[in-house]
Amino acid sequence: MTKKALVTGASRGIGAAIARKLAKRGYEVWLAARSAQALEATQKEIEAAGGRAHTLVLDVSRPEETEAKVAELDREVGGLDMVVANAGIGGSQVPAAQQTFAGARATLETNVMGALATLLPVIPGMVERKSGHIAGVTSLAGEIPLPAAVDYGTSKAALSFFLASAAADLVSRGVLVTDIRPGFVRTDLTAKNRFPMPFLVELDDAAELIDRGLASGKRVIRFPAPLTTAISAGRMMPAGLRDRLVNSKRPI
Ligand SMILES: NC(=O)c1ccc[n+]([C@@H]2O[C@H](COP(=O)([O-])OP(=O)(O)OC[C@H]3O[C@@H](n4cnc5c(N)ncnc54)[C@H](OP(=O)(O)O)[C@@H]3O)[C@@H](O)[C@H]2O)c1
Repeated sequence: MTKKALVTGASRGIGAAIARKLAKRGYEVWLAARSAQALEATQKEIEAAGGRAHTLVLDVSRPEETEAKVAELDREVGGLDMVVANAGIGGSQVPAAQQTFAGARATLETNVMGALATLLPVIPGMVERKSGHIAGVTSLAGEIPLPAAVDYGTSKAALSFFLASAAADLVSRGVLVTDIRPGFVRTDLTAKNRFPMPFLVELDDAAELIDRGLASGKRVIRFPAPLTTAISAGRMMPAGLRDRLVNSKRPI
């Protein structure tokens, strides 16, 4: 039977690239985001390559609506096999002293609540069927504090912790959980960045690494290697020393 996948944030960037890969591997994919037109463009691309795709207009910053729409889709298709919570925003990108509560809340609403509202509704069905795969696109920025990333880093660390907690509960229930933690990937989101992005990865290369990790059921997908090595080393430093080092790299 054809496997069915839902990918949020699939109108462009990493989400669209993941959806294209899943369709290539034979999944029937549901592409979700806010802009119907851009979703249709991704859908046409997938269909032109011989895949099967549908669009679902969805604003994950409205979690109740998202939860209801995902639950409805899950029922309609008889159970989604793969759900990738990828939709996300880059956050306020200001130092802590300029971070507003409203800005932080908006980032967390999309990146955390939006992802939870996407993933939680499908877990009971997957557990019942003893099969399924949920994934979230977090970030290496959730592993270590970066400059001017208080809301973004918090949102990604929170989503990573959610995925880790879910994995601990689901590990013997036949449901796979994957935390996708990219470094910098060339997309519209990073095009706005005015600071150095070490080891920037091209979208196609990122999609290949993510797809390979998803296909093999990896628990955590981290890339690129030079950045993951630096971050792992940074995590072992005393916090005060690391704070000073991060501060010295402040872009603003
Ligand atoms: N690019 C990087 O370097 C990088 C690194 C680490 C992690 N990430 C994460 O990867 C994910 C994708 O990033 P990207 O670089 O591909 O960004 P992007 O090119 O800006 O694409 C973001 C996608 O999310 C959708 N989206 C944003 N807000 C949404 C909302 N409220 N409801 C539904 N969809 C929404 C957008 O579609 P609409 O605007 O049409 O809704 C779009 O499809 C994000 O979670 C990001 O944090 C990116």
